[in-house]
Amino acid sequence: MKTLILSGIAFAFLSACAYSYFQFPDILVKNRIFAFVFAALSLSFPIYFFMRKLDVPSFALQGLFTVSTAWIGFIFYFSLISLFFGFLDILRVKIPYAFFAAFAATIAILIFGFIKNRNFEIREYNLKIEKPMDFPVKIAAASDLHLGYGSSKEKIEKMARAINAQKPDAILIAGDLIDDNVNILDKRKISEILKGLNAPMGVFAVFGNHEYLAGEKESEEFYKASNIKLLKGKIAMLENGLQIAGLDDFSNKKTQRENEIAKLLNRKLPSILLDHQPHNLQNKANLGFDIQISGHTHSGQIFPLNLITKLLFEIDCGYKKINSCHCFVSSGISLWGPPFRIGTKNEFLVLNISNK
Ligand SMILES: [Fe+2]
Repeated sequence: MKTLILSGIAFAFLSACAYSYFQFPDILVKNRIFAFVFAALSLSFPIYFFMRKLDVPSFALQGLFTVSTAWIGFIFYFSLISLFFGFLDILRVKIPYAFFAAFAATIAILIFGFIKNRNFEIREYNLKIEKPMDFPVKIAAASDLHLGYGSSKEKIEKMARAINAQKPDAILIAGDLIDDNVNILDKRKISEILKGLNAPMGVFAVFGNHEYLAGEKESEEFYKASNIKLLKGKIAMLENGLQIAGLDDFSNKKTQRENEIAKLLNRKLPSILLDHQPHNLQNKANLGFDIQISGHTHSGQIFPLNLITKLLFEIDCGYKKINSCHCFVSSGISLWGPPFRIGTKNEFLVLNISNK
């Protein structure tokens, strides 16, 4: 909630910069149609959010989601560019046709980000764990799919095909599989696509904060219908002795954290801890987990927000070894809201784990 409020304040500040630089207040007062369109666009995301679980035709919610998230991306960059022009103005550098220059630059950036968001990369690592393991395993780990109005069936099929193409022994999903409601996923029969995720040792997942936005019970049912084993404070043992421990999301203060689940861990055998939000990495490493996998940060999703996530998290995207624990934070195979990736990338992890 704190992040949401801070983001709202930053967003309002940026918008105010754009309004004052281009004297929007004057235009808004003089042109009522412009003022109405501007207000409607600015309110469209909160309206979508409050309507998302209501029994409204899905094409209407799809339209509202598409317009509102595109608007967030537009006004964010338009405001940043206006801020930059305002700064140049102080230095007495005049930009000719500033409004149109800012508009064109914003559209160009968004087109670039939209194209970049259509693809994802694979980050592959070979890990050696010096603990008994009957045979090596290949793990595919994805986080932040954010399935919902922002993901077409084709996009979800493409992600599933890419994960299956790695021929993993097990698939792990590190939270935020669902974006903000399950209704649209049921209507589009998305669980049928997820059932096609192919791994002989199984598909395991933990909840992210967005499963709580979608509804805890509804999300659990969706996971079950998709043949995904939900690990909420539980440990699953793979055939080769590798333990997969899953924590409930950090936002659910009622459930256990790493100290409790570590009591169930066999420290002589190798283990992976799945935890959506990358907090307390050092503590989890001290507890004896060999690998940690998280997501949640999206690596800021768009520049310059990636600079902020770098300040907020010990690892906002990438790899770090803490004690003997291999810690991974993924920027996510997809993203939340505005469909743009700028200065960051979509990705999923492939881990080849052996003890030799
Ligand atoms: Fe996420």
